[in-house]
Order: sequence, then C-alpha cells, then structure tokens
Amino acid sequence: MAVEVLTTANGRAKTALSHAHAARWREARAAGTPLPIGRANPPMQPSRPERPELLPPRDVPRRRTGSPQGRIALLHALAHIELNAVDLHWDIIARFTDTEMPLGFYDDWVKSADEESKHFNLLCDCLEAVGSHYGALPAHAFMWRAAEDTADDLLGRLAVVPMVLEARGLDVTPGMIEIFTKADEPAATDALKVIYAEEVGHVAYGVKWFNWLCGRDGLDPKEVFHGLVRRYFRGALKPPFNEEKRAEAGLPPDFYWPLAEEVAEAPGTAAFR
Ligand SMILES: [Fe+2]
Ligand SMILES: [Fe+2]
Repeated sequence: MAVEVLTTANGRAKTALSHAHAARWREARAAGTPLPIGRANPPMQPSRPERPELLPPRDVPRRRTGSPQGRIALLHALAHIELNAVDLHWDIIARFTDTEMPLGFYDDWVKSADEESKHFNLLCDCLEAVGSHYGALPAHAFMWRAAEDTADDLLGRLAVVPMVLEARGLDVTPGMIEIFTKADEPAATDALKVIYAEEVGHVAYGVKWFNWLCGRDGLDPKEVFHGLVRRYFRGALKPPFNEEKRAEAGLPPDFYWPLAEEVAEAPGTAAFR
C-alpha cells in the first residue's frame, strides 16, 4: 500500500490513495484484525507529476509575501513540502520493515501520511481558489535528499525528518499564519492553523520512536541525536526555535540548542527557512 502511494505521480491521486489506504489500515486495527506489515521495495525516488519543475534551491525565485503573487508562491512552496511529507511518511513505513517495530509505529506514520495528504489538498484548494494550481511554479529539488541520505538508517531518518525538518515547520508556521491573517485570506489562514496543530503530532511521533529505539539498545538518545544530525543534516539548526511547541512534541532544548550555532550555515538549509 505504501509503495502504491509512492509510485503514484499525480498529487491529487497520490493523496486520494493515501487517504484510502489510511482508512483501510485504521478500520482493520479497530476491528482487531490488523493488516500484515509485509515486505516491499520502495523506490529510491517517489513518482511525481511532470510539473512543478524541480530546481536547485538557489534557483527557485523568491517573492515577497506582501503581494498576492508572493503569497501564491508561498502556498505553492508549502504544497510542495506537504507532498514530500506524504511520500516521506509512506516511505518510512515501507523502507524499514527489517527492524521489528510495534504496530503503534505504523499507526503513527499512517496517521501522519493521512494528515499530510489533507494538508496538500487544503493548500491546493487555496491555490485553485485564486486561479493558480500546484505545478504552476517551480519548486526545489532538495527535499528528498534527507530521505536518500537516511535510506538505510531508521534512527537517522527519525532524527532528520520529524525531529529536524518537521520541528522546523513548528518554528516558521506562526509567522506564515500572521502573513495570511494580515492579508485577510481566511482560507489560507485556516489551512495553516490545521497544519500547525497537526504537525506537533508528527514531531512527537518522531521523538517517541527515536527514544524507543535508543531505549531498546541502551543508547543515550541525546548523544545519538547529535551525532546523526551532524552526520546527515550538514548544517546548523536555525533559531529562533518554537520552544513551546517543541516542548509539546517532547523535544527538549538540549537536543536542538547544541546544534544551533556551532556550524556556519551550510548550503541546503536555506530550503527550510
Ligand atoms: Fe503537513
Ligand atoms: Fe508533518
């Protein structure tokens, strides 16, 4: 089921399938007859539509969010992130089945993938309401690199994707909500509020399973986290941090602050500003 989502190119079709599979998983769990986990070979790159054109981050034009065009560009960039997130969550489900995990691991990522699918569609609705659509603008090609770099390292994947990238989303989303509120664009404001509320859960799932795996092997989670982020993220984390929401997700300050200032900003981190 995960590979089916990953190999579907069209965004609306990918997310429809994602919703359908998540519902099937949930129903089977509720009935006490969970679906077998199985084995599969997820593709190294998920299928994507022909548009948007994918460019290196530095070649993606930046627009000021003070103009309607700039806000469309921001919504487009966010829709692109959400579509990547759909694939990232199904990828973690399919890629690491060699590591035996409690069923709750799969519950959490199925729920996350289901929510990302909703986020993508909410943002597409906003774009379409103002005469644009996902694919109308270029997007950056950087996002999948975190998945490729950690394709054989479950702890590394958890460290970089939910605990760094999705936690970064918690830092920047309040500012975006303010942009759309000030511009009096209620549909986009509401979509971002839904996203903001649900992303806390995705970070929390990352923290939960990261700690669980470290605990299983008698490792110190904080030390392991620092090592993995330095290895795979290749750049400093960028303050200011949303300490409140990070705490809500179970991410303590001594996990992220030591990674904040020690390295000069590396190429690539700009994509998540
Ligand atoms: Fe999301
Ligand atoms: Fe997320």
